[in-house]
Amino acid sequence: MKLIVRGKAKLQGAFSVPGDKSVSHRALLLGAIASGETKVENCLVAEDVLSTARCLQQLGVQIDGFGTPSIVVHGVGGANLKQSDEPLDCGNSGTTMRLLMGILAAHTFESWLTGDSSLQKRPMDRVAIPLQRMGAKVEGRTERYLPPIRIRGGKLRSIEWALPVASAQAKSAILLAGLFADGTTLVYEPAPSRDHTERMLQAFGAKIFVKGLTVAVVGPAKLKGTTVIVPGDPSSAAFFLCAAAAIPESEVTALGISVNPTRSGYLEVLKEMGANVIVHNQRTQGGEPVADVTVLGSKLKGVTILGDLIPRTIDELPVLAAIATAAEGTTVIRDAQELRVKESDRIAAMVSELRQLGAQVEELPDGMVVHGGSKLTGAEVQSHGDHRVAMALAIAGLLAEGETVIHDADCVAISFPQFPQVLASLGAEVEVA
Ligand code: S3P
Repeated sequence: MKLIVRGKAKLQGAFSVPGDKSVSHRALLLGAIASGETKVENCLVAEDVLSTARCLQQLGVQIDGFGTPSIVVHGVGGANLKQSDEPLDCGNSGTTMRLLMGILAAHTFESWLTGDSSLQKRPMDRVAIPLQRMGAKVEGRTERYLPPIRIRGGKLRSIEWALPVASAQAKSAILLAGLFADGTTLVYEPAPSRDHTERMLQAFGAKIFVKGLTVAVVGPAKLKGTTVIVPGDPSSAAFFLCAAAAIPESEVTALGISVNPTRSGYLEVLKEMGANVIVHNQRTQGGEPVADVTVLGSKLKGVTILGDLIPRTIDELPVLAAIATAAEGTTVIRDAQELRVKESDRIAAMVSELRQLGAQVEELPDGMVVHGGSKLTGAEVQSHGDHRVAMALAIAGLLAEGETVIHDADCVAISFPQFPQVLASLGAEVEVA
């Protein structure tokens, strides 16, 4: 599929986005190992979350309403999943693979986890090494533990683990394994990463404590099924909010999105760039802060994004780089080497494709420098098979003169199948071909 966008129309209106991807994965996974039923409302229906649901079904979990946003997970109550005859296909989803590894580490049978060509290039060592320390057997390709992964779990010991990188997936995998270990498992993070696992574990009745950058979970834990209402995904809303910030006279409102501070770094960046950002109607929904967010377009200026802000903006960096092309001055992104091991090498992908549109961008080992103010011209660009690159390039296309064609754009279905329709509803000229 190709996405074709034509630039320069202002964006206007209110919109909703589907449920948060990170929260949806966790609701299914915790529901699967809890006792009793877990109801998930507004669950994301997109390829990554379907991968998690299918893997759980293969492991013997009954899921009612599969493929719809209203799901009931019938929990197996502890380490009672069943061995799958077939390998578990995690598709494109790093979250599925890493979090499932944490759960499978407590199961005595052997499992194979695999995924598409992108996932097979992503390092699992950050999860495999601590899980081995806890007592699981894990094998992968090379010293980085590239998938396919073979894992055989069993009785686990609690550990204290300092994460080498701020990664919510690695943190979550260790915490999930910690639920089944005897004693308290401690995880230290170098900087705050998204905390949905911690919040949701509390709702499922686990004893979990957070102090600064340390998380502790007490095992063995008995989780009890609950109801999870999934907030709108801020990483999906970010494409339109960022686009509106960069297109003068735009005004858009995202309804009911998560404003969890571990996810909302992009709103701080937009404010610093000079956009008018209004967070209203704040409320709490299932332990997560939710709000409506309005962004009004204005003349943006370049900013520096680094340090602790990186894990809080990690999935929004491609679209922030895209709109930095329209800012006055230079935007510098540093400390973001993690972008190189996402669904694609997002530094290399964004630098090469933004250049196709005429942007002046320099690649750094851990980020990029975007020189704002150069005139963008529509061109043919590639998604690199990466959903967030595809959508960020569509936003860059809105800032360009003429027509931009994003090739290989089927990947938007990984997190946000309705992206073209929502973009069109705000007044953008967009076509799916
Ligand atoms: C996610 C964590 C982040 C993020 C990914 C989803 C999660 O990855 O980039 O899209 O749901 O835990 P890392 O944990 O690798 O930083």
